[in-house]
Amino acid sequence: MSTTNDRAKRQSIINACRQMNQSGLNQGTSGNISLRHGDGMLITPTSTPYEAMQPEEIVFMNLDGAFDANQRPSSEWRFHRDILKARPEVNAVVHAHPPYATILAIMGLSIPPIHYMIACAGGDTIRCSPYATFGTQELSEHAVAALEDRSACLLAHHGMIAIGPSLAKAMWLAVEVETLARQYHGCLQIGTPPLLSKAEIENVRARMAGYGPPDE
Ligand code: 13P
Repeated sequence: MSTTNDRAKRQSIINACRQMNQSGLNQGTSGNISLRHGDGMLITPTSTPYEAMQPEEIVFMNLDGAFDANQRPSSEWRFHRDILKARPEVNAVVHAHPPYATILAIMGLSIPPIHYMIACAGGDTIRCSPYATFGTQELSEHAVAALEDRSACLLAHHGMIAIGPSLAKAMWLAVEVETLARQYHGCLQIGTPPLLSKAEIENVRARMAGYGPPDE
């Protein structure tokens, strides 16, 4: 049953999708977003231009994968569902194919601690998962593993995932990840960048608690 809260959440997903494309973080319909909702999730429909997307097209899915057969959830619903199942502190999952994050993912490169802002993603690296075909359970398992103790990862030959306690935080992190990817790509044009230590990233992490948009 649709409630006012439900409709506002659906609209917030559409707004975030539009923002993702307007900012250049994503192109076309190659991203998807989910938000935890009750005992399930709200997720974008597959291959639907964001400008035309309507709140009623956002799909509600139980965490067991059941959904209304008349609706068309994102082909990546498995990793959205599995991340929300594995990570009770997470309420929002943002997937996109940002240009620089995807360049690194094509090259199979994780992002090392080139800049202190990497601490925003929960540790001293942003891992790149192995490749698996889009929409598969295998890709979902790679994504959940690459996100262990982290709130972002790259997916080889594919793109990026950012997660968070709120949609605002996951979207903010997605931009930070693309910025780090762009910086790393730039550094690699010059040579091998010097890295910050794991201890310094832990120090930054402690100082950054609460940094960024609100958790709710
Ligand atoms: P959907 O349009 O099915 O959400 O898929 C796009 C995508 O990013 C596949 O990885």
